[in-house]
Amino acid sequence: MSDTSPIVLCGFMGCGKTTVGKIISKRTELEFIDMDSYIEKKEGCSVKEIFEKHGEEYFRELEHRACVELSNKKNCVISSGGGAMTYERNIRALEEKTRIIFLSVPLEDIKFRLRNDTKRPLLQRPDRDKAMAELYNKRLPYYNAAARYVIRPGNGPAATAEKIIEILKLPKRAGQRNKSKA
Ligand code: S3P
Repeated sequence: MSDTSPIVLCGFMGCGKTTVGKIISKRTELEFIDMDSYIEKKEGCSVKEIFEKHGEEYFRELEHRACVELSNKKNCVISSGGGAMTYERNIRALEEKTRIIFLSVPLEDIKFRLRNDTKRPLLQRPDRDKAMAELYNKRLPYYNAAARYVIRPGNGPAATAEKIIEILKLPKRAGQRNKSKA
């Protein structure tokens, strides 16, 4: 583990991994990588289409491959898919080589944020709220176990990004150095 090892943001769908990751990247020299986009680029279709055409198990294989490949990157911040860190093999691939951060957002906030979502395959079902609650409770222990740091994003994505920059002592990009509090 070193100062160049990837920072991996994990947590439930809708917790803000991508938004926070992009802000960290903008304020530091770190490259931003969205794990789902990485998979989509390699497969040439969206995550939704991968689920529709090949099913979840196939997607999880691609996701595992992405975890292994991305673990070897340097100087980047990665937003992982909401399910990625709930598989032991992915945690094993990432825990030694990366700095995993769990963005812990209460279920009620997640439900609100995702109320109109149409792109996430696991949420397209009539009993969405119940299914989401079950999945959330099942996954929470995995996120907590995988993460080296747990952050509770209360004051919006910019403040959360700033908190992570501070905790990990990430050097800021020139022109961003005086923007300490968002
Ligand atoms: C998933 C979360 C999604 C995406 C896929 C499966 C999950 O990513 O990887 O739809 O199992 O929670 P986001 O967390 O970015 O929505």
